[in-house]
Amino acid sequence: MKLIMETTDNFTNKILCGDSLELIKILPDESVNLIITSPPYFQQREYTKDDKEIGNEKEVSEYIDKLSELFHECVRVTKKNGSIVFNIGDKYLESSLLLVPFRFALNILNKESVKLVNNITWAKLNPTPRQFKGRLVSSTEPFFHFVKSDDYYYNLDEFMKFLKTTRKKTIRGNGIGKKYFELIEKSNLTDTQKLMAKKDLNQVIVEVKNGKISGFRMKINGIHSLPFGGQEGGRKTQMLTKGFTIIKINGEFLKRDIIESPVESVKGSGHPAIYPEFIIQQLLILLTKENDIVLDPFIGSGTTAVACKKLGRNYIGFDINRQYCDDANERLKIIKKENCLMEWII
Ligand SMILES: C[S@@+](CC[C@H](N)C(=O)[O-])C[C@H]1O[C@@H](n2cnc3c(N)ncnc32)[C@H](O)[C@@H]1O
Repeated sequence: MKLIMETTDNFTNKILCGDSLELIKILPDESVNLIITSPPYFQQREYTKDDKEIGNEKEVSEYIDKLSELFHECVRVTKKNGSIVFNIGDKYLESSLLLVPFRFALNILNKESVKLVNNITWAKLNPTPRQFKGRLVSSTEPFFHFVKSDDYYYNLDEFMKFLKTTRKKTIRGNGIGKKYFELIEKSNLTDTQKLMAKKDLNQVIVEVKNGKISGFRMKINGIHSLPFGGQEGGRKTQMLTKGFTIIKINGEFLKRDIIESPVESVKGSGHPAIYPEFIIQQLLILLTKENDIVLDPFIGSGTTAVACKKLGRNYIGFDINRQYCDDANERLKIIKKENCLMEWII
C-alpha cells in the first residue's frame, strides 16, 4: 500500500507517468479544487501495451467498473466545494449505441455521494465527415459536471464575461450585418432611407458586439414581406414609413448547457484524441479561481495543463503513456500565462 502524501506540493505543476489509479492514491484527501478529464473511450484505441491501460476491456460493464473505481478516488481527493468533470464518448456495437457515458453517470450516481449538476453537451462544429446510409453523424459528447456538496465554487460572472469576449471575436470574424448592408444597397429605398438604415444597422451591430443585446433581425421594405397587423402593426408602419425595421433580440447570452467548439488538433502532437482547450478554459473559469489545483488523471497531450498555465491555475497530470507525458511537457515549455484567451472563428 502506498503512503498518502500530506500535501500536493510534490505533484503540483507536474505531469507524472503511470497508472492514474495508482498515482491518485498518493494524493491527500480533499486536496484538489477541480478534476477535469477525458478518460480513454471504450474500445476505441490502444494507447500502450500496458495491461493497466483503461479502455480495452471486453465488456462495457468492466470498463465502467474500472472508471468508477478511479472516480471513487476522485471524490476522495476533491475538496468539499470542488467539482469533477468527466468527458466520455459513446460507442456503437452491432449498429447500436451503447450509451456508455450515461451508463457511467448512472453508476456514479448510484454509488457515490455526489450530485450531477449538468450534462454539458459539446457540439462539435467539424465532426469527422462520414456518409452513413442509415444514421446521422454523431457530433456531440457529454461533459458531466459532478459536485460533492451544494456549496460548490461557481463563478458565473467570469464565465459570462469570457463567453462575451470570445463571442465578440467570433462575431467580428463573421462580418455581422454584411448581408443586410448588401440588401439595403440592392433595395428600392430612397437615398435618405438607405442612409438611415445603414446608420441604425451600424448602431445595432455595436450593441451586439458589446453584449447589450444578443442578436437582431432587419426587415427591408420591398425585400422582406410586410408583417401582418396586430402586435406586428408597429413594425409594418415602420417599414412603410422609414423603409425598414430592426427587431432586437434582448437579453444576456444564454447560460446554456451546450458548448460549441471544433475538434482541435495540436501542431506536432501525435495524440489521437485531444479535447478542445476552448471548452477546458471555459470550465476552468466557471469552476476554479487563480492558483487553484486542477487534476487531470488522463492528461494525454497536456490540454488541461496548457489551459491551466494560461489561466494561472495549478495542474497535476497523469498519463500511462511515456511518450505523451514527454510531449505534454515539451508543449508546456512554451506556454505562458496569458491574459489574452484563445479564440476560434466559425
Ligand atoms: C482521451 S485521452 C486524453 C486526451 C487529453 N484530454 C488531451 O486533450 O490530450 C486518454 C488518455 O488516457 C491515457 N490512459 C489510458 N489508461 C490510463 C491509465 N490507466 N492511467 C493513466 N492514463 C491512462 C491514454 O494514454 C490517453 O492519453
